[in-house]
Amino acid sequence: MVTRAVESPSNGFDTRWRKAKALAERELPTTEDTEDFGRALADELQAGDMVILDGPLGAGKTALTRGIAAGLGVRGRVTSPTFIIAREHKAGERSGHAPVPMVHVDAYRLGTGPRALDELDALDLDTDLDSAVVVVEWGEGLVEHLTARYLMVRMRREPESDVRTVTWEWVG
Ligand SMILES: Nc1ncnc2c1ncn2[C@@H]1O[C@H](COP(=O)(O)OP(=O)(O)O)[C@@H](O)[C@H]1O
Ligand SMILES: [Mg+2]
Repeated sequence: MVTRAVESPSNGFDTRWRKAKALAERELPTTEDTEDFGRALADELQAGDMVILDGPLGAGKTALTRGIAAGLGVRGRVTSPTFIIAREHKAGERSGHAPVPMVHVDAYRLGTGPRALDELDALDLDTDLDSAVVVVEWGEGLVEHLTARYLMVRMRREPESDVRTVTWEWVG
């Protein structure tokens, strides 16, 4: 993993970024780096936390979610859901932390507008937020109201390369 700019220059990614609430940025050269980054993020997550993932198709949002799932130790394979909008992964073994389930939402097919909000409502994510970590691809502008505080993660592809750049910050 290559770190380009982090608010604490000496240590790079550590728990201080959360407290600092600063916007942090990192380069992720390979899919594996993206999954590793997700694993590191998972260490900071507990029941009730929401992660919103933004970025174009193929940016690596699902790959990152796979890493978060691995870090949380939840069950089941993380895939890009084609028909299912939300998938619950049951809690598994989690070293050093209380086990927690993860709900993975891909809001891409929800679109926008009032109908999307209705469909979102039907997912009952606010119930999940009592007990699970909720990760929402394409959730920006749709799910912020469900929680007082969320981790906003943005990914982008660098042109003509596999490198992804990720920025993240706690909002709220
Ligand atoms: N550095 C990288 N980080 C994440 N994915 C990468 C990277 N380099 C190549 N890829 C590939 O790009 C694709 C990302 O797909 P996916 O995670 O489903 O994106 P999204 O969910 O944002 O649409 C995967 O095929 C992955 O292997
Ligand atoms: Mg995806």
